[in-house]
Amino acid sequence: MGVAATPATTATTAADPGPGVFRGGFSFRNTPATIARFPFPFPSDRFAYAVNLRPHVPDGGLQVFDAMFDTDAHYEDEMADRALTLAADPRRCQALSHMAAAQWEALALLLEQLAKDYPRHFVLARNGDSWRWENRVLGQVAAFTFGDEASLGSPPLAFIGRQAQGDFILLDQRADNLFLDGGVLTAPADWSLHFNLGMSFTEFHAPVARQAHEAGVFDRSLRFLLRLKPAQQMRRLNWSLTVDPRLDTAPESWGEWGWARETLTPETIGRRLCLRVELQTLTRLMPSGAILFGIRTYLLRFEELATVPEWARRVHGVLAGLHPEIAAYKGMASYREMAVAYLEACTGAGAEISS
Ligand code: HEM
Repeated sequence: MGVAATPATTATTAADPGPGVFRGGFSFRNTPATIARFPFPFPSDRFAYAVNLRPHVPDGGLQVFDAMFDTDAHYEDEMADRALTLAADPRRCQALSHMAAAQWEALALLLEQLAKDYPRHFVLARNGDSWRWENRVLGQVAAFTFGDEASLGSPPLAFIGRQAQGDFILLDQRADNLFLDGGVLTAPADWSLHFNLGMSFTEFHAPVARQAHEAGVFDRSLRFLLRLKPAQQMRRLNWSLTVDPRLDTAPESWGEWGWARETLTPETIGRRLCLRVELQTLTRLMPSGAILFGIRTYLLRFEELATVPEWARRVHGVLAGLHPEIAAYKGMASYREMAVAYLEACTGAGAEISS
């Protein structure tokens, strides 16, 4: 694992945007090591919506699947970026009151798993309801009584958000559906926790391009999830593109990033355009029966993508052949041709853009 072992020495606040890794100067970079563990999502050079749910177990290959909740070299930068987003907009972490038990169950699962998978960085000691959590990466210690929010100092979801990379959504199961009744969401691919709070699985997926609905993706995955067992953690990959390596692409902050889509040029597209991949995990929590939906986001600049010619060829094929309605839904209609041309120049491939 690439997490730096030394505690963070610089505090980042809303007033001081710090080094600007995921905003401002966008100093975010991958290294050959983080490129090698990037969860590349395309099994072929054609994209079609699919359920693509599989058991979340190590597959003997890609390192990001080794732990239940992946932690990597960008850990400290992501925690600092999330703190900025939450300070600017507290609505990014909220839950309905009936999700209190599920929040504690999620906290227990996360802390136990992080301590188990990364024992050099995270230590959990439990004595009955007295818990002690040590985060050696951030240099933090928390002692609290399990189930007592006052002793924790914040709602469990907010605490989780300060410890684990990625976003976390809690879904309540009732009336043969799943309801998005809580979460901490600071790196969404253009959707809002505040807007979607309380919606059913069917409702919050309604805006997705019709090709996904026609393929029966949501009906089938909902039927599967309603029967998800506690020991049966699942995962799937989702992808989109983002201009600049920005984690916070929420509708709430649209004014800070929406316009950037129109500012790409053939000279800047390799550096600025990023493949954005979400490693989504689904776990049944007990005894509440809620589902914890984890969203771990990975960014790869196109110029970094181009260092793996096979990936560049695949993405070229995917973007060139993408149904225009899907391209529009994913927000890439205005720069898709430029992206295809960039990858064409990198790979020597040629293609007709589907229209
Ligand atoms: C249960 C937890 C889940 C939550 C909370 C969730 C939430 C969402 C939300 C809010 C969106 C954006 C909709 C919009 O444009 O406003 C979305 C997109 C989508 N979701 Fe889910 N989802 C979940 C699970 C799944 C599962 C299990 C599948 C399996 C097929 C799935 C497939 C998709 C697809 C295909 C998209 C469109 C993504 C794109 O084209 O970029 N989701 N999801």
